[in-house]
Amino acid sequence: MNGDAVRIPLRDASVDGVISVEAAFHFSSRAEFFREARRVLRPGGVLTMSDVPAQRRPRTPAELLAGISQLRVWGLKPSAAASADRIARAVRDAGFVEVRMRLVGDRVIQPALRWARRALEDARGVPSAQIAGARFFLNRVELLWRNGLIEYLLLRAEVPARRTA
Ligand SMILES: C[S@@+](CC[C@H](N)C(=O)[O-])C[C@H]1O[C@@H](n2cnc3c(N)ncnc32)[C@H](O)[C@@H]1O
Repeated sequence: MNGDAVRIPLRDASVDGVISVEAAFHFSSRAEFFREARRVLRPGGVLTMSDVPAQRRPRTPAELLAGISQLRVWGLKPSAAASADRIARAVRDAGFVEVRMRLVGDRVIQPALRWARRALEDARGVPSAQIAGARFFLNRVELLWRNGLIEYLLLRAEVPARRTA
């Protein structure tokens, strides 16, 4: 089944789990997605997601350029840039409880950058303009990671269970 995450084509309280992997920054509104996830989940249902939060605003021209270039490359709106705390607040505001989150960029972003750097070094028969473009892109992401602007978020939250008494 296909559908928009901010208008999920499912009945109220009809599923046990909602999983979103590296996608919420594409949705027109994270808050709307969390409200939809809350709506379709049964009492006690679980939302699990990974996301790439923007932990702070750029402070230098280089950071600003890197941030803007990433938004452009991925076709994202500036409003997609939200900190992990803000994302967690939106999850709570949608009615979820037991919101737990972990920042694991050192286990996800860092190795991915290392892998991409090595792949570029080993690339054979690729036009030099493509290598230069990829290196430019990689350098921007590396700056955002190294300077603490981006992270990798794992989040889990629950719909309150129905009261039995
Ligand atoms: C970076 S990809 C991640 C893909 C997938 N989660 C994975 O792990 O392979 C982002 C995904 O978000 C999906 N997406 C973007 N906007 C969406 C929306 N409004 N509703 C549902 N999915 C959306 C895209 O189709 C794409 O598959």
